Amino acid sequence: SDPLRLGIAGLGTVGAGVVKIVRQKAELLAHRAGRPVVVTAVSARNRDKDRGVSLSDYAWEDDPVALATRDDVDVFVELMGGSDGPAKAATEAAIAAGKDVVTANKAMLAHHGQALALAAEEAGSVLRFEAAVAGGIPVIKALTEGLAGNQIERVLGVMNGTCNYILTRMEGAGLTYEEAFAEADALGYLEADPELDVGGIDAGHKLSLLASIAFGTQVNFAGVALEGIGQVSIDDIRQAGDMGYKIKLLGVSQMTGRGLEQRMAPCLVPETSPLGQLVGGTNMVVIEGDQVGQIVMRGAGAGEGPTASAVMGDVIDIARGTRVSTFGQAASSLAPVAAAATATP
Ligand code: NDP
Ligand code: HSE
Repeated sequence: SDPLRLGIAGLGTVGAGVVKIVRQKAELLAHRAGRPVVVTAVSARNRDKDRGVSLSDYAWEDDPVALATRDDVDVFVELMGGSDGPAKAATEAAIAAGKDVVTANKAMLAHHGQALALAAEEAGSVLRFEAAVAGGIPVIKALTEGLAGNQIERVLGVMNGTCNYILTRMEGAGLTYEEAFAEADALGYLEADPELDVGGIDAGHKLSLLASIAFGTQVNFAGVALEGIGQVSIDDIRQAGDMGYKIKLLGVSQMTGRGLEQRMAPCLVPETSPLGQLVGGTNMVVIEGDQVGQIVMRGAGAGEGPTASAVMGDVIDIARGTRVSTFGQAASSLAPVAAAATATP
């Protein structure tokens, strides 16, 4: 059968990881997808940069919008990042051209997810973003597929690998904030603007997407009460440890009589709890459903392999013929969220 043809914009940590999987696992992907999955064209800023993988088989576009609208591209894979700018322009262009889109860009989705999902719905395109929340953990699939028969009561978790890495390295290895930050950078965890990580904004983006999917509401990032790890000192970490607690940047969202509550803040968690034992760049998402009870998902929330793994899950779903919205329901049926409210973790 016809191959599914990918156009990939962004060849950094995640984009290069996706190209590697497509090249190295062609046979496995074809079996899983029921058809070959190939890359036809790529784009990044610097054509001459060594990406650790051969790009010579692919057409090159300097302009991601041109890439997104090529006739030989079925799925536009957006891995540049940034809430606006070329990522948004190229995603909009791809949708307008009737392409399906796979992205890991939680910043863009937190700000424009509703508009992009509506545009995709109107164009008959599929917009998928499993990699945007908790990296390699298939939490969106869990919510929209396996748990689709549940009323979700609460979602919470640690959703930023950089912050968890910094906090656990400061606490366990006695590193300074700067040393731990440099290690997270070397592991490919950081956003292009690291303030998004340490300011809790990146985790807030993810929480707003998860809440939308869990509660069937329009994405409301402005309604997330946000606090990062900038105020957490080594003394705070030691004092928490003396009392049997760890400090984690925890996101919590639940639907209450007062509306949707979304809060991202450093919290004390018992050191013997699953959240307290979460170390390094690992993420943990806890989902509570009225039928299933509590589900705990733990895994790599960032880095080349785990994030590319989630991107490829979406690509294979599209190759198999899914037309299901990533929000798990039609974008036009997501409920507006009236007022910002906060949860008490
Ligand atoms: P990188 O910074 O490593 O890579 C970004 C890529 O986009 C680079 O190849 C860059 O080109 C390219 N790019 C940037 N601006 C433009 C532009 N204007 N035109 C064309 N290409 C451009 O980012 P990541 O791979 O880490 O992240 C990509 C996306 O995935 C982001 O949305 C991020 O939030 C998300 N994500 C990342 C995770 C991770 O662990 N890294 C995990 C989950 C999501 P060049 O290389 O030439 O400079
Ligand atoms: N900067 C993000 C993190 C990447 O550290 O979790 C994964 O979304």
